[in-house]
Amino acid sequence: MELIDGIYQVQGLALTELAKEFGTPFYLYDGNKIVNQLQNLKNAFSETQVKVKFAAKALTNISILKLLKKHGSGVDVVSIQEAYLALGVGFEKNEIMFTPNCVDFSEICEGVELGLNINLDNLSALEKFGKKYGSTYPCCIRLNPHILAGGNYKISTGHGNSKFGISVYQLPQIMQLVEVHKLVINGLHIHTGSEITETEVFLKMAEILFGVARDFPALKFIDFGSGFKVAYKEGDHVTNIYDLGLNLGKKFKEFYRSYGKQLELWIEPGKYLVSEAGYLLVNTNVVKTTPSVTFAGVDSGLNHLIRPMMYDAYHEIVNITNTKGSQKIYTVVGNICETDTLGVDRKLNEVREGDLLAIKNAGAYGYSMASNYNSRFRPAEVLIWSGKAQLIRKRDTMDDLLRNQVVVDI
Ligand SMILES: Cc1ncc(COP(=O)(O)O)c(C=O)c1O
Repeated sequence: MELIDGIYQVQGLALTELAKEFGTPFYLYDGNKIVNQLQNLKNAFSETQVKVKFAAKALTNISILKLLKKHGSGVDVVSIQEAYLALGVGFEKNEIMFTPNCVDFSEICEGVELGLNINLDNLSALEKFGKKYGSTYPCCIRLNPHILAGGNYKISTGHGNSKFGISVYQLPQIMQLVEVHKLVINGLHIHTGSEITETEVFLKMAEILFGVARDFPALKFIDFGSGFKVAYKEGDHVTNIYDLGLNLGKKFKEFYRSYGKQLELWIEPGKYLVSEAGYLLVNTNVVKTTPSVTFAGVDSGLNHLIRPMMYDAYHEIVNITNTKGSQKIYTVVGNICETDTLGVDRKLNEVREGDLLAIKNAGAYGYSMASNYNSRFRPAEVLIWSGKAQLIRKRDTMDDLLRNQVVVDI
Protein backbone atom coordinates (compact mmCIF):
# COMPACT_ATOMS: atom_id res chain seq x y z
CA MET A 1 0.00 0.00 0.00
CA GLU A 2 1.47 3.34 -1.00
CA LEU A 3 0.44 6.89 -0.30
CA ILE A 4 0.72 8.82 -3.55
CA ASP A 5 -0.59 12.39 -3.82
CA GLY A 6 -2.63 11.90 -0.68
CA ILE A 7 -4.28 8.72 -2.00
CA TYR A 8 -3.62 5.26 -0.63
CA GLN A 9 -3.22 2.81 -3.47
CA VAL A 10 -2.27 -0.74 -4.30
CA GLN A 11 -0.86 -1.26 -7.79
CA GLY A 12 -2.10 2.20 -8.73
CA LEU A 13 -5.68 1.51 -7.65
CA ALA A 14 -7.11 3.88 -5.06
CA LEU A 15 -8.40 2.02 -2.03
CA THR A 16 -11.26 4.46 -1.62
CA GLU A 17 -12.45 3.66 -5.15
CA LEU A 18 -12.21 -0.06 -4.45
CA ALA A 19 -14.28 0.44 -1.30
CA LYS A 20 -16.93 2.19 -3.40
CA GLU A 21 -16.93 -0.66 -5.89
CA PHE A 22 -16.92 -3.61 -3.51
CA GLY A 23 -18.41 -2.12 -0.33
CA THR A 24 -16.92 -2.68 3.12
CA PRO A 25 -15.72 -4.71 4.84
CA PHE A 26 -13.54 -6.58 2.39
CA TYR A 27 -10.21 -8.32 2.22
CA LEU A 28 -7.89 -7.04 -0.46
CA TYR A 29 -4.94 -9.08 -1.75
CA ASP A 30 -2.07 -7.85 -3.87
CA GLY A 31 -1.46 -10.88 -6.11
CA ASN A 32 1.77 -9.57 -7.55
CA LYS A 33 3.21 -9.11 -4.07
CA ILE A 34 2.35 -12.76 -3.31
CA VAL A 35 4.14 -13.94 -6.44
CA ASN A 36 7.14 -11.71 -5.62
CA GLN A 37 7.38 -13.25 -2.18
CA LEU A 38 7.34 -16.71 -3.73
CA GLN A 39 10.13 -15.69 -6.08
CA ASN A 40 12.13 -14.20 -3.18
CA LEU A 41 11.99 -17.52 -1.38
CA LYS A 42 13.09 -19.42 -4.44
CA ASN A 43 15.98 -17.01 -4.92
CA ALA A 44 16.94 -17.22 -1.26
CA PHE A 45 17.08 -21.02 -1.40
CA SER A 46 18.80 -21.22 -4.76
CA GLU A 47 21.71 -23.02 -3.07
CA THR A 48 19.74 -26.24 -3.30
CA GLN A 49 16.60 -27.66 -4.87
CA VAL A 50 13.72 -26.15 -2.88
CA LYS A 51 10.06 -27.04 -3.12
CA VAL A 52 7.70 -24.45 -1.71
CA LYS A 53 4.46 -25.86 -0.31
CA PHE A 54 2.17 -22.95 0.52
CA ALA A 55 0.46 -23.52 3.87
CA ALA A 56 -3.08 -23.32 2.53
CA LYS A 57 -4.57 -22.75 5.95
CA ALA A 58 -3.20 -19.21 5.86
CA LEU A 59 -5.44 -18.27 2.93
CA THR A 60 -7.62 -20.85 1.23
CA ASN A 61 -9.30 -18.72 -1.40
CA ILE A 62 -9.11 -20.86 -4.53
CA SER A 63 -8.07 -17.95 -6.75
CA ILE A 64 -5.04 -17.42 -4.51
CA LEU A 65 -4.28 -21.14 -4.60
CA LYS A 66 -4.57 -21.04 -8.37
CA LEU A 67 -2.23 -18.05 -8.57
CA LEU A 68 0.38 -19.79 -6.45
CA LYS A 69 0.03 -23.02 -8.40
CA LYS A 70 0.52 -21.14 -11.65
CA HIS A 71 3.75 -19.65 -10.33
CA GLY A 72 5.27 -22.91 -9.24
CA SER A 73 4.22 -23.44 -5.64
CA GLY A 74 3.01 -26.70 -4.18
CA VAL A 75 0.69 -26.76 -1.21
CA ASP A 76 0.56 -28.00 2.37
CA VAL A 77 -2.92 -28.99 3.53
CA VAL A 78 -4.04 -29.91 7.02
CA SER A 79 -7.50 -31.28 6.30
CA ILE A 80 -8.97 -33.45 3.60
CA GLN A 81 -11.20 -30.50 2.69
CA GLU A 82 -8.17 -28.32 2.00
CA ALA A 83 -6.84 -31.19 -0.09
CA TYR A 84 -9.98 -31.18 -2.21
CA LEU A 85 -9.69 -27.40 -2.66
CA ALA A 86 -6.10 -27.84 -3.84
CA LEU A 87 -6.95 -30.68 -6.21
CA GLY A 88 -9.86 -28.64 -7.51
CA VAL A 89 -7.58 -25.82 -8.64
CA GLY A 90 -5.24 -28.23 -10.39
CA PHE A 91 -2.46 -29.10 -7.95
CA GLU A 92 -1.05 -32.50 -8.82
CA LYS A 93 -1.41 -35.03 -6.04
CA ASN A 94 2.36 -35.22 -5.61
CA GLU A 95 2.50 -31.43 -5.12
CA ILE A 96 0.25 -31.74 -2.08
CA MET A 97 1.56 -32.47 1.40
CA PHE A 98 -1.16 -33.65 3.77
CA THR A 99 -0.24 -32.86 7.38
CA PRO A 100 -3.28 -33.59 9.54
CA ASN A 101 -3.24 -33.84 13.30
CA CYS A 102 -5.65 -35.63 15.62
CA VAL A 103 -7.83 -36.75 12.73
CA ASP A 104 -9.72 -39.99 12.43
CA PHE A 105 -7.62 -42.57 10.60
CA SER A 106 -10.23 -42.72 7.83
CA GLU A 107 -9.21 -39.17 6.83
CA ILE A 108 -5.62 -40.31 6.37
CA CYS A 109 -6.86 -43.25 4.27
CA GLU A 110 -8.78 -40.80 2.11
CA GLY A 111 -5.55 -38.88 1.60
CA VAL A 112 -3.88 -42.12 0.49
CA GLU A 113 -6.72 -42.87 -1.93
CA LEU A 114 -6.21 -39.40 -3.41
CA GLY A 115 -2.50 -40.14 -3.80
CA LEU A 116 -1.26 -37.30 -1.57
CA ASN A 117 2.03 -37.09 0.32
CA ILE A 118 1.09 -38.25 3.78
CA ASN A 119 2.69 -36.73 6.87
CA LEU A 120 1.99 -38.59 10.12
CA ASP A 121 2.33 -36.91 13.47
CA ASN A 122 1.47 -39.53 16.05
CA LEU A 123 2.50 -43.07 16.87
CA SER A 124 -1.00 -44.51 16.79
CA ALA A 125 -1.56 -43.26 13.24
CA LEU A 126 1.84 -44.62 12.24
CA GLU A 127 0.91 -48.02 13.63
CA LYS A 128 -2.46 -48.06 11.86
CA PHE A 129 -0.79 -46.89 8.67
CA GLY A 130 1.78 -49.66 8.97
CA LYS A 131 -0.86 -52.33 9.53
CA LYS A 132 -2.95 -51.16 6.59
CA TYR A 133 -0.37 -50.16 4.01
CA GLY A 134 2.93 -51.70 5.11
CA SER A 135 5.48 -51.03 2.40
CA THR A 136 2.86 -50.33 -0.29
CA TYR A 137 2.49 -46.56 0.36
CA PRO A 138 5.28 -44.30 1.62
CA CYS A 139 4.78 -41.73 4.34
CA CYS A 140 6.58 -38.85 5.98
CA ILE A 141 7.03 -38.47 9.74
CA ARG A 142 6.45 -35.19 11.54
CA LEU A 143 8.84 -34.91 14.44
CA ASN A 144 8.57 -32.77 17.50
CA PRO A 145 12.10 -31.50 18.23
CA HIS A 146 11.38 -30.12 21.73
CA ILE A 147 12.41 -26.63 20.71
CA LEU A 148 10.47 -23.66 22.05
CA ALA A 149 10.56 -21.13 19.24
CA GLY A 150 8.44 -18.47 17.65
CA GLY A 151 6.45 -15.38 18.49
CA ASN A 152 4.66 -16.78 21.54
CA TYR A 153 3.63 -20.03 23.22
CA LYS A 154 0.30 -20.14 21.39
CA ILE A 155 1.96 -20.28 17.98
CA SER A 156 4.84 -22.49 19.01
CA THR A 157 4.33 -26.08 17.91
CA GLY A 158 7.69 -27.77 18.44
CA HIS A 159 7.99 -27.70 22.23
CA GLY A 160 7.64 -30.70 24.50
CA ASN A 161 4.07 -29.95 25.57
CA SER A 162 2.78 -29.32 22.06
CA LYS A 163 0.25 -31.68 20.52
CA PHE A 164 2.13 -31.64 17.22
CA GLY A 165 4.59 -34.19 15.92
CA ILE A 166 6.11 -37.36 17.35
CA SER A 167 8.70 -36.54 19.98
CA VAL A 168 12.28 -37.11 18.90
CA TYR A 169 12.61 -38.99 22.19
CA GLN A 170 10.16 -41.54 20.81
CA LEU A 171 12.44 -42.43 17.94
CA PRO A 172 12.91 -46.02 19.23
CA GLN A 173 9.12 -46.57 19.02
CA ILE A 174 9.08 -45.07 15.51
CA MET A 175 11.89 -47.38 14.43
CA GLN A 176 10.13 -50.38 15.86
CA LEU A 177 6.93 -49.62 13.91
CA VAL A 178 8.93 -48.98 10.75
CA GLU A 179 10.68 -52.31 11.12
CA VAL A 180 7.64 -54.40 12.03
CA HIS A 181 5.48 -53.01 9.22
CA LYS A 182 8.23 -52.47 6.65
CA LEU A 183 7.17 -48.85 6.39
CA VAL A 184 8.76 -46.76 3.65
CA ILE A 185 9.59 -43.37 5.13
CA ASN A 186 10.05 -40.97 2.23
CA GLY A 187 10.24 -37.73 4.22
CA LEU A 188 10.95 -36.16 7.59
CA HIS A 189 9.24 -33.01 8.73
CA ILE A 190 9.51 -30.44 11.50
CA HIS A 191 7.45 -27.29 11.90
CA THR A 192 8.30 -25.54 15.14
CA GLY A 193 5.86 -22.66 14.97
CA SER A 194 5.38 -19.21 13.60
CA GLU A 195 7.35 -15.98 13.64
CA ILE A 196 10.84 -17.36 14.18
CA THR A 197 13.44 -14.70 13.48
CA GLU A 198 16.67 -16.55 14.24
CA THR A 199 18.35 -18.57 11.49
CA GLU A 200 19.99 -20.58 14.30
CA VAL A 201 16.64 -22.10 15.32
CA PHE A 202 16.20 -23.52 11.84
CA LEU A 203 19.79 -24.74 11.78
CA LYS A 204 19.33 -26.43 15.15
CA MET A 205 16.21 -28.08 13.80
CA ALA A 206 18.19 -29.17 10.75
CA GLU A 207 20.84 -30.81 12.94
CA ILE A 208 18.12 -32.81 14.67
CA LEU A 209 16.59 -33.82 11.35
CA PHE A 210 19.93 -34.79 9.82
CA GLY A 211 20.76 -36.84 12.88
CA VAL A 212 17.50 -38.76 12.57
CA ALA A 213 17.55 -38.95 8.77
CA ARG A 214 20.50 -41.34 8.67
CA ASP A 215 18.23 -44.07 10.03
CA PHE A 216 15.85 -43.75 7.08
CA PRO A 217 17.38 -44.89 3.79
CA ALA A 218 14.35 -44.24 1.56
CA LEU A 219 14.06 -40.49 2.08
CA LYS A 220 13.18 -38.28 -0.88
CA PHE A 221 12.77 -34.99 0.96
CA ILE A 222 13.19 -33.20 4.26
CA ASP A 223 10.52 -30.67 5.09
CA PHE A 224 11.61 -27.78 7.32
CA GLY A 225 8.09 -26.42 7.79
CA SER A 226 7.90 -22.69 8.13
CA GLY A 227 7.63 -19.94 10.71
CA PHE A 228 9.30 -17.21 8.65
CA LYS A 229 8.48 -13.91 10.24
CA VAL A 230 7.42 -10.84 8.34
CA ALA A 231 7.21 -7.27 9.62
CA TYR A 232 3.99 -6.29 11.32
CA LYS A 233 5.24 -2.83 12.14
CA GLU A 234 8.16 -0.61 11.33
CA GLY A 235 11.39 -1.81 12.87
CA ASP A 236 10.10 -5.36 13.47
CA HIS A 237 12.68 -8.12 13.35
CA VAL A 238 12.04 -10.47 10.45
CA THR A 239 13.49 -13.78 9.32
CA ASN A 240 16.40 -13.08 7.02
CA ILE A 241 15.40 -15.59 4.37
CA TYR A 242 18.56 -15.00 2.34
CA ASP A 243 20.76 -15.83 5.32
CA LEU A 244 18.54 -18.79 6.08
CA GLY A 245 18.41 -20.03 2.50
CA LEU A 246 22.16 -19.79 2.13
CA ASN A 247 23.09 -21.45 5.41
CA LEU A 248 20.37 -24.08 5.49
CA GLY A 249 20.97 -24.80 1.81
CA LYS A 250 24.71 -25.36 2.44
CA LYS A 251 24.12 -27.61 5.42
CA PHE A 252 21.47 -29.52 3.50
CA LYS A 253 23.81 -30.15 0.60
CA GLU A 254 26.56 -31.30 2.94
CA PHE A 255 24.09 -33.62 4.56
CA TYR A 256 22.70 -35.27 1.47
CA ARG A 257 26.19 -35.81 0.07
CA SER A 258 27.04 -37.82 3.15
CA TYR A 259 23.61 -39.48 3.04
CA GLY A 260 24.42 -40.77 -0.42
CA LYS A 261 21.76 -39.26 -2.64
CA GLN A 262 20.27 -35.91 -3.47
CA LEU A 263 17.22 -35.00 -1.44
CA GLU A 264 14.66 -32.24 -1.91
CA LEU A 265 14.40 -29.44 0.63
CA TRP A 266 10.78 -28.54 1.31
CA ILE A 267 9.41 -25.48 3.10
CA GLU A 268 5.81 -24.58 3.91
CA PRO A 269 5.42 -20.82 4.21
CA GLY A 270 2.07 -19.29 5.00
CA LYS A 271 2.61 -15.80 6.40
CA TYR A 272 5.71 -15.12 4.34
CA LEU A 273 3.77 -15.49 1.11
CA VAL A 274 0.50 -13.78 1.92
CA SER A 275 0.53 -11.78 5.14
CA GLU A 276 1.83 -8.45 3.87
CA ALA A 277 -0.10 -8.76 0.61
CA GLY A 278 -3.43 -8.58 2.43
CA TYR A 279 -5.49 -5.71 3.86
CA LEU A 280 -8.82 -5.66 5.63
CA LEU A 281 -10.73 -2.55 4.57
CA VAL A 282 -13.33 -1.42 7.07
CA ASN A 283 -15.65 1.52 7.55
CA THR A 284 -15.83 3.51 10.78
CA ASN A 285 -19.41 3.25 12.00
CA VAL A 286 -19.02 5.08 15.26
CA VAL A 287 -16.56 7.32 17.05
CA LYS A 288 -17.26 7.02 20.74
CA THR A 289 -15.52 9.05 23.39
CA THR A 290 -15.59 8.03 27.02
CA PRO A 291 -13.84 9.89 29.86
CA SER A 292 -10.76 7.71 29.24
CA VAL A 293 -10.80 6.32 25.70
CA THR A 294 -11.79 7.30 22.18
CA PHE A 295 -13.07 4.28 20.29
CA ALA A 296 -13.29 3.97 16.54
CA GLY A 297 -15.99 1.33 16.07
CA VAL A 298 -15.79 -0.37 12.66
CA ASP A 299 -17.99 -2.65 10.55
CA SER A 300 -15.81 -5.67 11.29
CA GLY A 301 -14.34 -7.34 14.35
CA LEU A 302 -13.10 -10.65 15.68
CA ASN A 303 -15.48 -12.41 13.32
CA HIS A 304 -13.28 -11.23 10.43
CA LEU A 305 -9.85 -10.89 11.99
CA ILE A 306 -9.36 -12.86 15.17
CA ARG A 307 -5.57 -12.66 15.39
CA PRO A 308 -5.38 -9.61 17.68
CA MET A 309 -7.66 -11.33 20.19
CA MET A 310 -6.34 -14.85 19.78
CA TYR A 311 -2.61 -14.22 19.56
CA ASP A 312 -2.27 -10.62 20.77
CA ALA A 313 -1.14 -9.96 17.21
CA TYR A 314 -0.34 -6.41 16.20
CA HIS A 315 -1.87 -5.23 12.94
CA GLU A 316 -1.06 -1.73 11.82
CA ILE A 317 -4.13 0.38 11.13
CA VAL A 318 -4.25 3.37 8.77
CA ASN A 319 -6.96 5.95 8.20
CA ILE A 320 -7.07 6.08 4.42
CA THR A 321 -9.68 8.79 4.00
CA ASN A 322 -8.30 11.51 6.22
CA THR A 323 -4.65 11.38 5.34
CA LYS A 324 -3.96 14.93 6.47
CA GLY A 325 -5.98 14.93 9.69
CA SER A 326 -4.15 15.66 12.93
CA GLN A 327 -3.10 12.58 14.81
CA LYS A 328 -5.02 11.37 17.83
CA ILE A 329 -5.12 8.23 19.92
CA TYR A 330 -7.84 5.65 19.25
CA THR A 331 -8.73 2.18 20.30
CA VAL A 332 -10.13 0.46 17.23
CA VAL A 333 -12.88 -2.01 18.00
CA GLY A 334 -15.34 -4.10 16.03
CA ASN A 335 -19.12 -4.28 16.10
CA ILE A 336 -19.28 -7.71 17.71
CA CYS A 337 -20.86 -8.27 21.07
CA GLU A 338 -17.51 -9.17 22.62
CA THR A 339 -14.48 -7.12 23.49
CA ASP A 340 -13.16 -7.34 19.95
CA THR A 341 -10.28 -4.92 20.03
CA LEU A 342 -8.37 -4.67 16.77
CA GLY A 343 -5.84 -2.13 18.00
CA VAL A 344 -5.25 -0.37 21.33
CA ASP A 345 -4.05 3.21 21.69
CA ARG A 346 -3.23 3.71 18.04
CA LYS A 347 -2.07 7.05 16.75
CA LEU A 348 -4.26 7.64 13.70
CA ASN A 349 -5.08 10.64 11.57
CA GLU A 350 -8.31 11.95 13.06
CA VAL A 351 -10.99 9.31 12.57
CA ARG A 352 -14.44 10.56 11.70
CA GLU A 353 -17.55 8.46 11.33
CA GLY A 354 -17.51 7.22 7.73
CA ASP A 355 -13.72 7.13 7.45
CA LEU A 356 -12.21 4.02 5.92
CA LEU A 357 -9.48 2.20 7.80
CA ALA A 358 -7.03 -0.28 6.31
CA ILE A 359 -5.83 -3.04 8.61
CA LYS A 360 -2.50 -4.32 7.40
CA ASN A 361 -0.88 -7.76 7.29
CA ALA A 362 -4.30 -9.29 6.97
CA GLY A 363 -3.49 -11.76 4.21
CA ALA A 364 -2.54 -14.67 6.44
CA TYR A 365 -4.97 -16.24 8.89
CA GLY A 366 -7.45 -13.44 8.27
CA TYR A 367 -10.30 -14.61 6.12
CA SER A 368 -9.40 -18.26 6.66
CA MET A 369 -10.13 -17.86 10.39
CA ALA A 370 -13.25 -15.73 9.87
CA SER A 371 -16.64 -16.78 11.16
CA ASN A 372 -20.29 -15.79 11.17
CA TYR A 373 -20.29 -15.03 14.89
CA ASN A 374 -23.15 -12.70 15.86
CA SER A 375 -24.76 -13.83 12.59
CA ARG A 376 -22.68 -11.31 10.74
CA PHE A 377 -21.63 -11.87 7.17
CA ARG A 378 -18.08 -12.86 6.36
CA PRO A 379 -16.54 -10.15 4.18
CA ALA A 380 -15.88 -10.14 0.45
CA GLU A 381 -12.41 -10.89 -0.93
CA VAL A 382 -10.82 -8.95 -3.78
CA LEU A 383 -7.64 -9.78 -5.66
CA ILE A 384 -5.56 -7.24 -7.54
CA TRP A 385 -3.56 -8.96 -10.23
CA SER A 386 -1.54 -6.94 -12.73
CA GLY A 387 -3.38 -3.73 -11.98
CA LYS A 388 -6.88 -5.20 -12.18
CA ALA A 389 -9.14 -5.72 -9.17
CA GLN A 390 -11.48 -8.70 -9.20
CA LEU A 391 -13.94 -10.06 -6.71
CA ILE A 392 -12.75 -13.52 -5.67
CA ARG A 393 -15.36 -14.19 -3.01
CA LYS A 394 -18.71 -12.56 -2.52
CA ARG A 395 -19.72 -11.18 0.85
CA ASP A 396 -22.06 -13.58 2.67
CA THR A 397 -25.78 -13.05 2.45
CA MET A 398 -28.72 -14.17 4.57
CA ASP A 399 -28.87 -17.27 2.36
CA ASP A 400 -25.39 -18.23 3.56
CA LEU A 401 -26.45 -17.88 7.18
CA LEU A 402 -29.49 -20.05 6.59
CA ARG A 403 -28.01 -22.54 4.11
CA ASN A 404 -27.54 -25.57 6.34
CA GLN A 405 -30.09 -24.79 8.99
CA VAL A 406 -33.07 -27.10 9.22
CA VAL A 407 -36.39 -25.83 10.48
CA VAL A 408 -38.25 -28.51 12.38
CA ASP A 409 -41.90 -28.74 13.31
CA ILE A 410 -42.29 -27.57 16.88
C1 LIG B 1 2.41 -27.67 9.49
C2 LIG B 1 2.50 -26.22 9.19
N1 LIG B 1 3.25 -25.82 8.15
C3 LIG B 1 3.33 -24.50 7.82
C4 LIG B 1 2.67 -23.52 8.54
C5 LIG B 1 2.81 -22.08 8.12
O1 LIG B 1 3.39 -21.29 9.07
P1 LIG B 1 3.64 -19.73 8.78
O2 LIG B 1 2.32 -19.14 8.42
O3 LIG B 1 4.20 -19.20 10.04
O4 LIG B 1 4.57 -19.64 7.65
C6 LIG B 1 1.89 -23.90 9.63
C7 LIG B 1 1.20 -22.88 10.41
O5 LIG B 1 0.73 -23.00 11.45
C8 LIG B 1 1.79 -25.28 9.95
O6 LIG B 1 1.04 -25.68 10.97
